[in-house]
Amino acid sequence: MQAVLHEAFGAPTEALRLAETDAPPLDDHEVLVGVRATSVARGDWLMTKGLPYIARPSYGLRNPKHRIAGLDVAGVVRAVGPEVSRFRVGDEVFGWGHGTLAEYAAIPEAQLTRTPAGITHEQAAAIPTSGAAALQAVRDKAAIGQGDSVLVIGASGGVGSFAVQIAKAHGAEVTGVASTRNLDFVRALGADHVIDHTTEGIGEGGRRYRAIIDIAGNRSLSELRRALDPDGTLVIVGGSGGNITMGFGRAVRATAVSPFIGQTLSALISEPNLDDLETLARMVEAGSLAPAVGATYPLADAPRAITDVGGGGGRGKAVVAV
Ligand SMILES: NC(=O)c1ccc[n+]([C@@H]2O[C@H](COP(=O)([O-])OP(=O)(O)OC[C@H]3O[C@@H](n4cnc5c(N)ncnc54)[C@H](OP(=O)(O)O)[C@@H]3O)[C@@H](O)[C@H]2O)c1
Repeated sequence: MQAVLHEAFGAPTEALRLAETDAPPLDDHEVLVGVRATSVARGDWLMTKGLPYIARPSYGLRNPKHRIAGLDVAGVVRAVGPEVSRFRVGDEVFGWGHGTLAEYAAIPEAQLTRTPAGITHEQAAAIPTSGAAALQAVRDKAAIGQGDSVLVIGASGGVGSFAVQIAKAHGAEVTGVASTRNLDFVRALGADHVIDHTTEGIGEGGRRYRAIIDIAGNRSLSELRRALDPDGTLVIVGGSGGNITMGFGRAVRATAVSPFIGQTLSALISEPNLDDLETLARMVEAGSLAPAVGATYPLADAPRAITDVGGGGGRGKAVVAV
């Protein structure tokens, strides 16, 4: 099969190469997915480069642990291991696993669910890791409820495009922060208000929010806290700066300060799980969530796709069609 091999850490165009390799062996609880689409995100770019260094124990210390790149997946079941009970050959599925930038991927049964009717493989592949991060930030960390005012910083991106829709689905009044060219896109996701971060600060006019989902940029904690209600909740999802921790210090400071102030300052470390994947699938079926597919690339261009998402500035989720 064709697969995108990741045999050393480095820039995507040097560290990744499309090559012919054996289809993966199938364990008892695994499903062989004929991959139709994979999505890529900044996390794939970081993993390709082996950054931040503190993540090396999970990526592989000297060389990548996983020889084939790719995490999110959507496709068609081609074979099932003897212990698999939920899927049959021919089912359309989506989920997450390793080695999904390939024609076939062996994925544990517990990391897949059926693809909702009416969406494409590309849309389904956009959901798993970014959708889970957004759901866990909005529902679990911020506990957004009816009528809450929520500021989503980085609203036009892979995680933000889900966070805006999920916050709306929970009844929030959503303000999305994005650059000028993405403001209409963020409104179309359902945001009630938008802030253009190229011309405006987040708390101008004394505006405060019940929750801030901070996905992009590198705003100081004091700037974020000024825009938060006295008893509001900040959820730091993304950060930038430095190859060692990549902004992790801001998240550490936020959680250290939080017990001593009225506001709740927290950092998200998301993990996809089956319950959340099924929740997201139900939201898609109910019409309250529509994955926003941005740039789409063929498998041979996966290194370029990962380079592009590493640079940021995309719109919605970047997808690789296989
Ligand atoms: N904590 C976790 O568990 C977790 C999980 C997933 C992702 N993440 C992290 O979350 C971050 C975002 O991931 P993503 O996939 O959504 O990235 P993305 O698709 O690149 O989206 C980020 C968006 O942020 C916007 N942006 C850039 N600079 C900004 C600024 N100064 N203020 C406001 N918005 C700005 C950009 O849109 P505009 O051009 O419109 O500004 C961009 O589209 C990454 O750092 C990623 O590593 C963390």
